[in-house]
Amino acid sequence: MIRKVVIPAAGLGTRFLPATKAIPKEMLPIVDVPLIQVVVEEAVACGIDQVVIITGRGKDAIADHFDISFELEEVLARRGKDDLVRELRRIATLAEVVLVRQGEAKGLGHAVLCAHRVVGDEPFAVVLPDDIVDAETPCLKQLIDLHESHGGGVVALEKMPRERLSSYGIADVASSPAPRTHKLCGLVEKPPVDRAPSDLAIIGRYILPPDVFAHLDRIAAAKSESGGEIQLTDALHALAKEGKMWGLEFLGQRFDMGTPAGFLGANLTFAMKRAPLRAALAPMFEKMAK
Ligand code: UTP
Repeated sequence: MIRKVVIPAAGLGTRFLPATKAIPKEMLPIVDVPLIQVVVEEAVACGIDQVVIITGRGKDAIADHFDISFELEEVLARRGKDDLVRELRRIATLAEVVLVRQGEAKGLGHAVLCAHRVVGDEPFAVVLPDDIVDAETPCLKQLIDLHESHGGGVVALEKMPRERLSSYGIADVASSPAPRTHKLCGLVEKPPVDRAPSDLAIIGRYILPPDVFAHLDRIAAAKSESGGEIQLTDALHALAKEGKMWGLEFLGQRFDMGTPAGFLGANLTFAMKRAPLRAALAPMFEKMAK
């Protein structure tokens, strides 16, 4: 059973500057809900009840978002906005939220390693708030189901056009025992296009066995001399070599929230699912099309 999720949120968000100069990327909204809340709710919908958020300097707004705000609640209650008070309370009690500081942004692998003591010796989920997936069954639940039937670690995979392969971790597939389900024999971080072992890119949803920490420790020790980022993909590669990694081509549409195009696409997609917003936006789209 997967009970814990690690959400790395200590990155600098340079691709979204200047919006992310003073505001954490994870607090950018989809319509009116910050990304960090969207992914926490995805995890909670999968039965997870402990959330470990990896934060760093300038990320206090994330902690405040999951805290109880008595002053705000009191003002809202006095104004008779009981629905809003209930909604704020719901957010503050969604799950047990544990915050761990990364100190220095030494890469995604290092961010996950920072969660070792809180996660302990059990399989756990990792969700990146950069990737938002619109899906009937939450993307993370699809991975958990595969983990429960096959064991080991699972990464979410998406087929990518060739020219984008060098921006992602790419899966090396050993066999595909069922549609969209791949046993992996390796993973390569951002390979040159002609060396990519497949067209299947890792996106930000993972189920990891606790042995990933030993691999991350080893990689971190090797990097402590040379410097450079501690890549999660390198640890996943080691697990794949041991026959412990699966990849799932999930069902759903993913948006890359680290880029303005993905951010706008997600906002429009989710806005159009709400009837009042759809009605308000329709005439604006008509004007734009002229
Ligand atoms: P990214 O590679 O998107 O990095 O990290 P970033 O710094 O957030 O954004 P850019 O590329 O500069 O625009 C993927 C995820 O890993 C987290 C980020 O917060 C993001 O959720 N991360 C990355 C950490 O928590 N620590 C790190 O050292 C690096």
